[in-house]
Amino acid sequence: MKTIRTIGVLTSGGDAPGMNACIRAITRSAVYNGWKVYGILRGYEGLINDEFVELTTEKVSGTIQKGGTILKTARSKAFMTEEGRAKAYENIVSHGIDALLVIGGNGSLSGAQAFAREYDIPIVGLPGTIDNDLYGTDLTIGYDTALNTIVECVDKIRDTASSHDRIFFVEVMGRDAGFLAQNSAIAAGAEAAIIPEDQTDVDQLAQFISRGVRKSKNSSIVIVSESKSEGHGGAMYYAERVRNEYPEYDVRVTILGHLQRGGTPTASDRILASRMGYASIEALQEGQRNIMIGIQNDEIVYVPISKAIKKDKPIDKELINVLSVLSI
Ligand code: F6P
Repeated sequence: MKTIRTIGVLTSGGDAPGMNACIRAITRSAVYNGWKVYGILRGYEGLINDEFVELTTEKVSGTIQKGGTILKTARSKAFMTEEGRAKAYENIVSHGIDALLVIGGNGSLSGAQAFAREYDIPIVGLPGTIDNDLYGTDLTIGYDTALNTIVECVDKIRDTASSHDRIFFVEVMGRDAGFLAQNSAIAAGAEAAIIPEDQTDVDQLAQFISRGVRKSKNSSIVIVSESKSEGHGGAMYYAERVRNEYPEYDVRVTILGHLQRGGTPTASDRILASRMGYASIEALQEGQRNIMIGIQNDEIVYVPISKAIKKDKPIDKELINVLSVLSI
């Protein structure tokens, strides 16, 4: 096992609140061990284009409370190519980097997996995404903050929905995963959630209408996960269907979009990011490689990156029952 003296850290994919707390924890834990830390700008793009900055304990001061990522981020097309990854490895070698830490979501860790297969560089992934869709970890960095932001917005939308007796379809992020939609619906007291994991043959909209929501309530809020296919799913699609199929209802749409991704991280996200950042350095000291740091039942765990990115993190079906019973 090669002794680690220098590490590189990057953030990749969609930014998530708590990424800075994680960069800070990685930097300080590494410096504590006497290691040198390079921050790589713009994710894999910076790795390819040689955009490296040295991180010190002072450089990460005053960042724990900041949203976004001080290292900037990108979704790199170049890193998906063999030539791109070859260039990235050249820069790793020329800076004497002994291990790479990647903070990001599914796409970013899939990139890490491809890189680790081709080159001899230990990689530790840290789950940074508001979607909470990485397998093997109960929580991802940024999810709690985004969830709280959504709930705050829906509370405001509720005022208008009930004042005007309207149905609101509120679209939230998470193309492949309904964690944000399902849990924000429960937390905001919404009447229904339409999520990708519940795509059975049952028409979720018809189900919602047939439950006779308007019998007991004059207004409703339905939280809808954004759609990955154009023309089907998403808040616009369901609102349009209600207008056509149930014209007696007064319908509005709110797409929360990127306001869900920004903002000051919650205390929970800061603590999670700090624990995970610290754990990533411990993992490297133990000789771990090609794993993602996860948290299960409040304990830090190591998950092989190959498993974490399989896109099969199940949503607890009980949450669906909780919402449908509590929204009567
Ligand atoms: O993966 C995080 C995420 O916010 C998803 O929920 C969303 O579908 C996507 O990123 C949006 O990406 P972009 O900011 O590149 O439009």
